[in-house]
Amino acid sequence: MKTVKTSNEIIKNMTLKEKIGQMTQLPPYLFIHDSEATIYGALRNLNLDKSQTFNAGSILGIGSPDEMIKLQKLYMENSTHNVPLMFMADVIHGYKTIFPVPIALASSFNFDIARVAARVSAKESYLSGIQVVFSPMCDLSRDPRWGRVVEGFGEDVYLTGEMAKAMVEGYTNYGKLGEDSVACCIKHFAGYGAAEGGRDYNTVDLSRLSLYRDYLPAYKKALDAGADLVMTSFNTLDGVPAVVNAFLLKHVLRDKWKSKALTIADYDALNQVIEHGAAKDQVEAAIKGIKAGLDIEMASSVYMNKLENLIKTNQVLESQIDEVVGRILDLKIKLNLFDNPYSGVNPEKEKAVCLSEEHLKYSKECAIESTVLLENNGVLPFNNNTKIALLGPFSKSRAFNGPWSWKGKDDVNSSLEEVLKNQLVFVSDKTKFNDFTEDELTRIKNADVCLVTLGEEAHLSGEAHSRSDISLPNDQDEFFESIKMIARKTVVLVFGGRPLLLSKVKKADALMMCWFLGSKSSEAIYDLLMGIENPSGKLPMSFPRNVGQIPIYYNYLHTGRAYVEGSNNPFVSKYLDVENTPLYPFGYGLSYAKFQYGNLSLSKKELTENDTLKISITVKNESNLVGKEVIQLYIRDYVADIVRPVKELKKIQKVLFMPQESKRIDFELGLDDLSYFDSEGNLCIESGEFSVMVGSSSESYIKEDFMFLLNNGKE
Ligand code: NOJ
Repeated sequence: MKTVKTSNEIIKNMTLKEKIGQMTQLPPYLFIHDSEATIYGALRNLNLDKSQTFNAGSILGIGSPDEMIKLQKLYMENSTHNVPLMFMADVIHGYKTIFPVPIALASSFNFDIARVAARVSAKESYLSGIQVVFSPMCDLSRDPRWGRVVEGFGEDVYLTGEMAKAMVEGYTNYGKLGEDSVACCIKHFAGYGAAEGGRDYNTVDLSRLSLYRDYLPAYKKALDAGADLVMTSFNTLDGVPAVVNAFLLKHVLRDKWKSKALTIADYDALNQVIEHGAAKDQVEAAIKGIKAGLDIEMASSVYMNKLENLIKTNQVLESQIDEVVGRILDLKIKLNLFDNPYSGVNPEKEKAVCLSEEHLKYSKECAIESTVLLENNGVLPFNNNTKIALLGPFSKSRAFNGPWSWKGKDDVNSSLEEVLKNQLVFVSDKTKFNDFTEDELTRIKNADVCLVTLGEEAHLSGEAHSRSDISLPNDQDEFFESIKMIARKTVVLVFGGRPLLLSKVKKADALMMCWFLGSKSSEAIYDLLMGIENPSGKLPMSFPRNVGQIPIYYNYLHTGRAYVEGSNNPFVSKYLDVENTPLYPFGYGLSYAKFQYGNLSLSKKELTENDTLKISITVKNESNLVGKEVIQLYIRDYVADIVRPVKELKKIQKVLFMPQESKRIDFELGLDDLSYFDSEGNLCIESGEFSVMVGSSSESYIKEDFMFLLNNGKE
């Protein structure tokens, strides 16, 4: 049996240059010029010679399993040491089998669904030679203009954290790296979602309080679940680019959280410290990177070109580099790469396993749970005799994979036209009402229902794809209104990677938010439309009425001049031209079944720090349909030294109900759930009055109060 050396033993035999190389990640086409990998970002001239390139520690993106084998072989033959490359890639919501985009997965409010999506993605990635995935994105977002909301789990800290945790568990198979699992790199640390104006890469100016309370907990949960790497974000925080931000990388990550996870810059970000105006040249950028605790740079060569001299001139200590390289090698050992540099990769198996029936079945299950029914006046579900006119830009499309699905191919997907064919009396993807002929208009009028597909194409969201106007593009509102004038009934399906402005299409007889659901999008939507499946998704972000309401989120702070409905006091916090409330609130989503909530009971009215509060509620399915309901538990802490949000989601359960079934649903709350972070990141708790709210959305619930007494009330 081959015995693998420890990282210390390996380091002893490495030159300084070789060690520094480990701290650099390069794209594959620097080695193989015809690489099929898709890389997102412009590569500047890195000024590297062959010996430097063949010292790189890891690879960003890889085209195929054969390419991985070719590259690893080339590397092992040309490098001066025996440390294999580690392969990392953007597998965000599936490798070849594509799952719903993360904002859609979050809409499932089902952590098992997210875990399954990650598990399948890991299996496919592993066989293709990928050992680390750049996922999940833990960035909380309250601004739908930001294109990257599609990659995250929405506006809530609890939902984001639990989703991220489940995905880490799925990718790593609960930490069992090596068999058919991959390591994961969470991102983007930290606060990236708070980019000013929702414009990608923009400045972040965030209070420490909000950072600790709203933004950091999800990254922490994902790390605790076993993520091995952390990617820094592109933004500045307190005026310091995250990539060289010692507060984030040292104080929070290492000192407070005691994490040993590797830190990796985002694409070219260490170089961009110069553009930010935080370093005058690469030498300063390198020093700042090391001082702050940045372990690996991605697609730039600041460390490779500058660190050696900095160490020789005693400006950086070699022992600092050894510590970093030790952790990089430890991960390579953990991934089994010293035993087998080709660990996992298997071109034959990759072909058989990717897009297997089983994987596609999981993708469809996830898609079904990720769809959110926003309106329905009884027109849905359709029956087998419903004659449908299928309209709008997505009616013939197969492009439902969404952003970040470079290995997903549209041609394995079905279009809505294909799945609905037996029910269609007319189909057209024209987007201008005036383009319809008289004959076509007659057929539209005669259909029982017009199924109108609207929304954003995939290229309107994702990295570097922010919008200042989040209304439906290309005058789709007008198109819908014209159709509505002549149609017997209208059902609107909305696709897209962010909350959109839906006030106009809200008037449809039914409205469904479909996001981008992946490989089985059309089949899942078919089952939902036909009532073979019952919608059960809920919104992970508030949908605003207009852009001026942004940021709008359910867990806002009660102001000193809060608006109270019905009051005519003008000196309150409100707009003159729009309500304070969103069009659709966080946690909202309908089912074909009807759920009735009642009998909320608490085990205690007074709670001390050693107690657990047991909460029960009766939920009854008052319909004759099977359905799932997301039962949401929120709390409110009325008085504290630091003002608490009007509501905070603390627990959810997604429960299956048989027709007419009634169930008693139990929750527990403990000390942690009642505590809050202060501006220094300390957990605090105070005596006082709380409410617990249990219901079907952040706006629809039953409420009960209780007291929390610290030290039995002797505070
Ligand atoms: C840039 C993106 O911000 C990040 O999310 C991604 O993982 C890296 N590039 C690698 O492609």
